[in-house]
Amino acid sequence: MSAVKAAAIIVAAGRGERAGGGDFPKQFKPLLGRPILAWSIRAFAADPRFGKIIVVTKREWFDQVSALAEGIDVTLVEGGPTRTDSVRNGLESSANGSEVEFVFIHDAARPGLDREVLDGLFAALEVFPAAIPVLRVADALLRDHSSGSQSEIDREGLCRVQTPQAFHLTPIIAAFKSLPAGASHVDDAAIARAAGLAVGLAPGHERLMKVTHPGDFAEMEARMGLRPAIGNGFDVHEFEPGDHVILCGVKIPYAAKLKGHSDADAGFHALTDALLGAISAGDIGDHFPPTEEKWRGAPSDLFLAHARQLVEARGGRISNVDLTIICEAPKVKPFREQMRAETARVLGLKSDQVGIKATTTEGLGFTGRREGLAALASACVLLPGGD
Ligand code: CTP
Ligand code: MG
Repeated sequence: MSAVKAAAIIVAAGRGERAGGGDFPKQFKPLLGRPILAWSIRAFAADPRFGKIIVVTKREWFDQVSALAEGIDVTLVEGGPTRTDSVRNGLESSANGSEVEFVFIHDAARPGLDREVLDGLFAALEVFPAAIPVLRVADALLRDHSSGSQSEIDREGLCRVQTPQAFHLTPIIAAFKSLPAGASHVDDAAIARAAGLAVGLAPGHERLMKVTHPGDFAEMEARMGLRPAIGNGFDVHEFEPGDHVILCGVKIPYAAKLKGHSDADAGFHALTDALLGAISAGDIGDHFPPTEEKWRGAPSDLFLAHARQLVEARGGRISNVDLTIICEAPKVKPFREQMRAETARVLGLKSDQVGIKATTTEGLGFTGRREGLAALASACVLLPGGD
């Protein structure tokens, strides 16, 4: 545990009406394969300065929030009718029984939070009792009086304000307590200001935009960025007496079978390693040790589906995979389309995202002597968080 004791309050009790509302509004909608709220939970959980993460939401969504937190410890607090009410409930919980010094209040609807923004806020909190992320306004501004009439607004000193808004805990709690009943403020920093607290400015980020309208989901996905990551995989299995081999889940009649602990599907094994490699998640043996009895004779689509699931758990997508089978026999070509279709099925891809080729080694080496076959795979995955 680091010396800094900060709590995060993520407010997620809104109805998301402008984004389409529904039983599970915008904070639960997927963005790059992960619910919007889950992105912020993970950003705070990844920063050791945060010892407590509070999610303020409706009671009927508590189970949903626990599930999407995927093992991260979150304190659930019931929200109120307005955002200010929700924040107040969160603040009460943040003061409960822990030595919290700072509190960061964040909109669930802003999934693009990263370490850089948090660092800027922590730095500002060394000087000020409150700190907010802002973006300077770059466009010209005007006020529309309608009927073709506008007046220009001087943009000098104007900022767009984002969250998380960060505070020393004691003064912000006092500021909320001194709030007159029914008082309306634009955000938490406005409540701090009304209580006489100085607010420091830290750099915000375009990626921290709030998802508000239906069109914002696609815009946000683009801003989160996807970086390509590649991986490769290689596997060899020896032939032994038998009457068929299994390659990419397809049974191919042959005068031998492949020796191995599982079904010895070298194609799926190489593809599994390529996917694991692309996300730096070790290799197939780390996930499915050959020493474990339960994998004896296991169909290898299990391994490949697991690798797919690990990619998706990181908010990633598989862009394409490519596989080369190296052997003199059996002939792979007649089964190629079936192998592509089966690989595509397991990976949730279209057939045109799956390449399968076969080659010989011109009679050379162990494949040339028909002692076994080899498979060589590449995978390209797209992972969030590029720039
Ligand atoms: N929020 C909250 N409690 C409320 C209202 C809003 O916790 N009573 C949260 C929202 O869940 C959101 C954040 O405050 O994460 C910012 O509010 P906004 O973008 O306005 O979200 P909604 O109020 O849900 O959306 P809308 O105003 O379109 O209904
Ligand atoms: Mg709202």
